[in-house]
Amino acid sequence: MRIGVLTGGGDCPGLNAVIRAVVRRAEVGFGDELVGIADGWRGLLEGRTLPLDVERCRGILPRGGTILGTSRTNPYAAPDGPARVLATAAELGLDAIVAIGGEDTLGVAHRLAAEGLAVVGVPKTIDNDLAGTELTFGFHTAVQTATEAIDRLHTTAESHDRVIVCEVMGRHAGWIATYAGIAGGATAILVPEEPFDLDEVCEVLRVRHAKGRYASIVVVAEGAVPKEGTLTLAAAELDAFGHPRLGGIAAVLAPEIERRTGIETRMTILGHIQRGGSPTAFDRVLATRFGVAAAEAVHDGAFDQMVALRAGQIVRVPLAEALAAPKHLDPELLHGVADWFRG
Ligand code: F6P
Repeated sequence: MRIGVLTGGGDCPGLNAVIRAVVRRAEVGFGDELVGIADGWRGLLEGRTLPLDVERCRGILPRGGTILGTSRTNPYAAPDGPARVLATAAELGLDAIVAIGGEDTLGVAHRLAAEGLAVVGVPKTIDNDLAGTELTFGFHTAVQTATEAIDRLHTTAESHDRVIVCEVMGRHAGWIATYAGIAGGATAILVPEEPFDLDEVCEVLRVRHAKGRYASIVVVAEGAVPKEGTLTLAAAELDAFGHPRLGGIAAVLAPEIERRTGIETRMTILGHIQRGGSPTAFDRVLATRFGVAAAEAVHDGAFDQMVALRAGQIVRVPLAEALAAPKHLDPELLHGVADWFRG
C-alpha cells in the first residue's frame, strides 16, 4: 500500500515517535511505501510532500517537534478545500492516510472520511482533553516539564517568602494544571472546568501565611476563568471565546493576589516550553504503540477510526465518538485528591 502520514495542529512531544513507528510497522512489516505530507492538511491542499522511510526516521525517536512540519490549516475553510485534498491524495496514489492530531485535525479527518478518504487517526494533544482515549501522548511530557518548573519555583518562593502564580497550558481543560499541581505540591490549582473565586484563593494564602508558611505556589491553567463578579478581566485580556489569552490570566492574578493579601507575588508563564523538547520515556512508548497500531488499522481497513488507550490496551475508536465532546477533568482528581493539599 501507499500510505500518507501527516501531523496537524500544535506540535507535541512524541510526534516523531509516532511517525517512526508507523513507518517501521508499515515498511518493514507490510512492505508499504510511505509518503510524508508537509505541514498537516495544508500539504495536501498545496501538494507538498516529503520523503519518508525507515532511513529518514533514524534518530528521531527522542526528538521533539515533527519532521513533517505542522499547521492549523483547515481545508474546510475554503469552499474547494476538501475537493483539493481528495484530488491531491488521488494524484499521489495514496491508498490511505494516517492523520496524527488533536480535535481539529481529527475533525477534518472525520469529515473527509465521509467524502471517501481512507483515514486512520492518532490522538495527540498535550492538553489530554480528547475523548475516546484515556491518555494522549505529549501530556506526560508536558506534566513532567511543568512539575520540574514548579519544583524550581518553590525554592525561589521560599527564599523570598513569596506567592508565585505559575500558568500552564490548557485552554479548555485542567489536566496539566491538576497533574502538575498535585505533583508539584501547589497550594491552589485553578482550572477551566470550574470558575474560581479569587477571594477564596486569597483566604487560603492568608491562613497559610498566618501559620508561618510564607511561600505558596498557585497553579493556573491558561483557560481558567474567575467566577462572575469576583474579578473583572479587561476585554483586551480575553480571546474570541471569552477565555484569558495565553499569558493573560497569570498576569492578572499575580498583582491582584498581592493587592488583596499584602503578600509579595510573582508570576511565571510556562507557555510553549511545555510543548517543546524530548518526550518522556512514557510518551515515547505510548506514541510508538499508537504508531504501530495505526499502521495495522490501515491494513485492517479500520478507517474513520482512531487508535486509543483504554484500560492499558490499545484499541480502535470511531472518530465520531472521540469528537463528540471534549474530555473534561475528572472532578474527583481535583476535589478528592488535590483539595487535601490546599493551604
Ligand atoms: O492545544 C494545545 C495547546 O498547547 C493549548 O494548550 C494552547 O492553548 C494552544 O495549544 C496554543 O497554541 P499555539 O501554539 O497555536 O499558540
